[in-house]
Amino acid sequence: MATDAPSTLRVQLVEQPRLQKLKEMFLSKFGTAPEFYVRAPGRVNLIGEHIDYCGYAVLPMAIEQDILIAVKPVKSQVVQLANTDSSYLDFSTNVNNVQINKTKPQWHNYFLCGLKGIQVELAEICTKSERYIGTEGGGMDQSISFLAEEGTAKLIEFSPLRATDVKLPSGAAFVIAHSCVEMNKAATSHYNIRVMECRLATKLLAKSKGLDWKDMSRLHDVQSGLGVSLADMLTVVEAVLHPEPYSTEEISKCLGISLEELRSQGLSQNTQDVSTFKLYQRAKHVYSEAARVLEFKKICNEAPADAIQLLGELMNQSHISCREMYECSCPELDRLVDICLQFGATGSRLTGAGWGGCTVSMVPTDKLNTFMKNVGKAYYQTNVQRLALENNSLFATKPGSGALVFVEA
Ligand code: GLA
Repeated sequence: MATDAPSTLRVQLVEQPRLQKLKEMFLSKFGTAPEFYVRAPGRVNLIGEHIDYCGYAVLPMAIEQDILIAVKPVKSQVVQLANTDSSYLDFSTNVNNVQINKTKPQWHNYFLCGLKGIQVELAEICTKSERYIGTEGGGMDQSISFLAEEGTAKLIEFSPLRATDVKLPSGAAFVIAHSCVEMNKAATSHYNIRVMECRLATKLLAKSKGLDWKDMSRLHDVQSGLGVSLADMLTVVEAVLHPEPYSTEEISKCLGISLEELRSQGLSQNTQDVSTFKLYQRAKHVYSEAARVLEFKKICNEAPADAIQLLGELMNQSHISCREMYECSCPELDRLVDICLQFGATGSRLTGAGWGGCTVSMVPTDKLNTFMKNVGKAYYQTNVQRLALENNSLFATKPGSGALVFVEA
């Protein structure tokens, strides 16, 4: 596979009339010279038509004819596009708000697609990269880091990766509070055990429904394979799985494979020695939590008068499900959630992987000051170690912008 970046070539512009002309047009348009130029060749397909998207090999070559682009990086967030052909109108947009209007196929949309593609691809590369550390992460962290925009949360959907704005209600603040318990996801198997439990639950559910279970590894695959709702999936889980933990022997028997096959195909390196898995509870959490995400988004969109109460209630249900069904909380997180609810949060839950780390609470803005004071007193100031960490552990926050590069001016 060729993964090389495009090469760089140093050229004398006087010997390249097309580049020279492009430079002059750029100068007169933007009042500054381009910093570099990009060439993308045309192509001709020698043989193999309409078979690439079916997965088959094709036989094209690049040709000498090409498109040239002159570029000048700027410090602002605004991208300005102009075409040497004046029938294609100038266009500019904020890079954080790239909207591609598919009903009107305008020339600049191709540039915007490139911009969006790079943002998504970088997120996916970083998701894959994290797996080299040994944890089978899902990509939420990397995706939001690249796709975030100031002032809005995002619904992140996977395969293909997509982000949709979710406008949070005014009148509430989000408060992050660290439990002062740390859990190293890569050094322990907690996280991967849950990933494996979901994978095994997927396979058992898929097999019981006559789906191609060998190719399925995500609980979402079963839902889309069956074409049913999340509520239906909860019923399926109850009918197919049992609440008692499954031994590896039972799982391999259900799937009709040997223990060795189960270990090599179904389990990560750090879960090879795990002997029992809770499939029913984990699947129940996943399907119910997935439904809560959609409900959360719906409430944000509809913005009813009691949105802050309704969203808070969903966050509380989420925490209970994490604690009871997914068993990814810990006593300190549970205590912190209780304290946050006691002092005015409408909702409070562990956030991220769990077993330590932070809670996130939704707090009506008019209660924020007393909330911060009281949570500080009740959770941090009652313990010397926590007291030392209080300043960096308890803070209110807002949706911020995504990853970027700084260069020295
Ligand atoms: C960690 C992982 C994410 C996600 C969360 C749990 O943050 O990196 O991919 O699985 O846990 O929601």
